[in-house]
Amino acid sequence: MKRLYLIANWKMNKTAADASAFCKEFSHEWAQEKEKTVVICPSFTALAKVCEEIEESGIKIGAQDLFYEDQGPFTGEISAAMLREFNVSYVIVGHSERRRILMEPDELANKKAKAALRSKIIPVICVGESLEERNAGKMKSVVERQLKTALEGISEADARNILVAYEPVWAIGTGNNAAPAQAEEMHAFIRAVLEKIFSKDLSKKVPILYGGSVKPDNIEMMTKQQNIDGALVGGASLDPKNFAQLVKNA
Ligand code: 13P
Repeated sequence: MKRLYLIANWKMNKTAADASAFCKEFSHEWAQEKEKTVVICPSFTALAKVCEEIEESGIKIGAQDLFYEDQGPFTGEISAAMLREFNVSYVIVGHSERRRILMEPDELANKKAKAALRSKIIPVICVGESLEERNAGKMKSVVERQLKTALEGISEADARNILVAYEPVWAIGTGNNAAPAQAEEMHAFIRAVLEKIFSKDLSKKVPILYGGSVKPDNIEMMTKQQNIDGALVGGASLDPKNFAQLVKNA
């Protein structure tokens, strides 16, 4: 049985108090399963609270971003070492919201992924095309470019500690998830790109998650696909009952 990753990306939602209430309720609703890894990525300001609430629960903590330098004059930024203080073991890099709204170039995802790996934090590298790019038939070339750039200079040994998330921009927050077969085609393509960059062996080992309007009622058909190893979940991870149901249905 393949391992499944269910990662909650809360984005800019929940104060520390809200996060604390979520964790309390989620731990009642959630039944831990050996083959599922559950990760919660709160805002930076809620990390301490989540870290305290989920101690020894089996839930992992992730961050939504990090900066690529270890320390120095970078106003407003957060380093990998700062994240480690709160037991952060995963970090999202290259999310499409940061690429689009904050104009982050492909190269930044590469620097951030390397910084995470240096600190033994698993980067969750996000890739995905916009609707215009899909309509122009460019989804594969866009995803290949994003992935190759994000992995530039990363060794095969380090690549064993990454996750990739395929998140088509048109499916994020729209209620319009990719059809399972559509997602599976892109996941198989991502595996082929990983094989080209590294090796067949490595390409089989990297978990590839799907993101974009994942809900309790569509997670099962997604995770049934051969190349889909879980989900990066936005909206449906905000409610503890809903997210526990989603984890259960995966
Ligand atoms: P939604 O699940 O709200 O579509 O968001 C997906 C996402 O962007 C997760 O990173």
